[in-house]
Amino acid sequence: MKFFIDTANLEQINEAQALGVLDGVTTNPSLMAKEGITGEKNILQHYVDICNAVTGDVSAEVIATDYDGIIKEGEALAKLHAQIVVKVPMIKDGIKAIRYFSDKGIKTNCTLVFSAGQALLAAKAGATYVSPFIGRLDDISSDGLNLIDEIRLIYDNYNFNTQILAASVRHTMHVLDCAKIGADVMTGPLSAIVGLLKHPLTDSGLAKFLEDHKKGN
Ligand code: G3P
Repeated sequence: MKFFIDTANLEQINEAQALGVLDGVTTNPSLMAKEGITGEKNILQHYVDICNAVTGDVSAEVIATDYDGIIKEGEALAKLHAQIVVKVPMIKDGIKAIRYFSDKGIKTNCTLVFSAGQALLAAKAGATYVSPFIGRLDDISSDGLNLIDEIRLIYDNYNFNTQILAASVRHTMHVLDCAKIGADVMTGPLSAIVGLLKHPLTDSGLAKFLEDHKKGN
């Protein structure tokens, strides 16, 4: 399972990268705004900075919602750096654009996916990644993990190459549950990744080992 970090915060990206378990980064317009990155030039430079900080794929989202606009923006994003994956919303023109990018060998991440039908369409269009938002489904009393399960079944039935990128991951249990179901990738906050480290028996066990070592010396 690949671990992506879902942030535009370079400090957190560097921390996750230093841990040695990071496979990529996802961003979106809200995450860029949260870091105070505004204006086209700054936004594009920030994508390059993120790419230079990590070794894997970096999703950069288009703002346009019409076919021509998505193609123009996506091609410009893809030219920025070899690690860029063009993130495209799950809308009709987005699907058409994903087919275009896929035929051109440009990697895509189909975002804002909330149903198995949408995920099937994204795979048919040749998306590299599909991003079902599990946390946002949980937020409205829908079962986000069940959606991952359904998409896994469909993709395995037909050997689709599209990778299931569990997005809107909020906590460590989401990460574990997605791993059990067989999501190819999860993208979440740094806290969900480092949360995997924690166990009270590890802490108390280590404290006892160190105490005993001191006694023995
Ligand atoms: O990758 C999508 C993600 O950024 C959405 O997360 O927490 O805003 O639902 P959230």
